[in-house]
Amino acid sequence: MTKVGIIGATGYTGVELVRLIAGHPEATLSIITSRQHAGVSISDVYPALNGIADLTCDVFSVEKVCEMTDVVFLALPHKMPMEIVPDLIKNNRKVIDLSADFRFRDIARYESAYQAHTSAHLASESVYGLAEVYRNEIRAASLIGNPGCYPTSILLPMIPLIKERLINPGTIISDSKSGVSGAGRGLSLGSHFCEVNESFKAYKVVEHRHTPEIEEILSIEAGTDVNITFIPHLIPVTRGMLSTIYTDLVKTVSEKTVFDCLNDYYRDAPFVRILKNKKVPDILWVSRTNYCDIGFRIDKRTNRLIVISAIDNLMKGASGQAVQNMNIMLGIDETTGLNDKPFLL
Ligand SMILES: NC(=O)c1ccc[n+]([C@@H]2O[C@H](COP(=O)([O-])OP(=O)(O)OC[C@H]3O[C@@H](n4cnc5c(N)ncnc54)[C@H](OP(=O)(O)O)[C@@H]3O)[C@@H](O)[C@H]2O)c1
Repeated sequence: MTKVGIIGATGYTGVELVRLIAGHPEATLSIITSRQHAGVSISDVYPALNGIADLTCDVFSVEKVCEMTDVVFLALPHKMPMEIVPDLIKNNRKVIDLSADFRFRDIARYESAYQAHTSAHLASESVYGLAEVYRNEIRAASLIGNPGCYPTSILLPMIPLIKERLINPGTIISDSKSGVSGAGRGLSLGSHFCEVNESFKAYKVVEHRHTPEIEEILSIEAGTDVNITFIPHLIPVTRGMLSTIYTDLVKTVSEKTVFDCLNDYYRDAPFVRILKNKKVPDILWVSRTNYCDIGFRIDKRTNRLIVISAIDNLMKGASGQAVQNMNIMLGIDETTGLNDKPFLL
């Protein structure tokens, strides 16, 4: 059994990890940490976990975490992991960080979007944890920068199309929508019920921090600098993320060509489903699962391809993908512990 530690276990992605590891046949929860709930059982913080995970939250200590774990998940706000990760890596732990701290290869790009990086020397060691694209690198990695939720929903559909040179990457416009859990469990005016219920709005227009993350990976995959337009929106649901992505085709192609491109790329990817028969995704179909559903249509009048993707922001957009990465690092089937079927209603 692989011994797992979760740092920041009482936040939304942290507790989703607790739920997943509690049901994982080859991993066991050995330590969870929280500042606000230290000394309290996770099932007192989240009574739904009663009888499923009853571990008591610890205060974080590098020594104790290293002593008790093989793999450590960090589910903390950015800036904190960069202080902790060097010690975990020095002690040969496998680390999966859900924050942005180890997602960037270009530290200047990270620093212009976030803040000064105090562990920049680890950037070259860390692997971007987009499991379907970087599986081989993840297998050999000790440190994973788990992708952001919006980037996952945009990169998965765009990368095969860029690699196959079907689209002009400089024309990508993504209109993306997220459920409110994307903002985390911390209290803030923007996520109060009355501010969100019956509301639907754009936010951080042209200045969301996920833009440089998406652009860095698209640039690497395209082999040239790529800038995109990315506009996030908040929708009044708890979970779910839908990206509607508009891009120019470089030549006239059939929908079969686009389907084959996506389907071939994800032939061995159990969590990516390319929809057939002109169907387009719905967040309901992937809710509480690790699936990314991708559908598309060609607008023949404009020769534009419209691709739509749906994920659950806490699963494929965060904790589900993090467990998928752990499975790949451990050399076990990447679907282990992630086999929940979608609820149909
Ligand atoms: N929510 C999503 O959909 C999503 C998707 C992809 C990636 N992520 C990333 O995953 C990480 C965790 O996100 P989350 O949504 O789980 O956040 P969250 O619900 O706010 O949880 C963060 C946890 O970190 C702990 N923490 C420790 N030190 C902290 C500090 N100085 N300030 C605030 N919290 C502190 C908190 O617990 P204690 O205070 O008890 O220690 C808190 O429960 C973030 O980096 C986020 O960007 C989130």
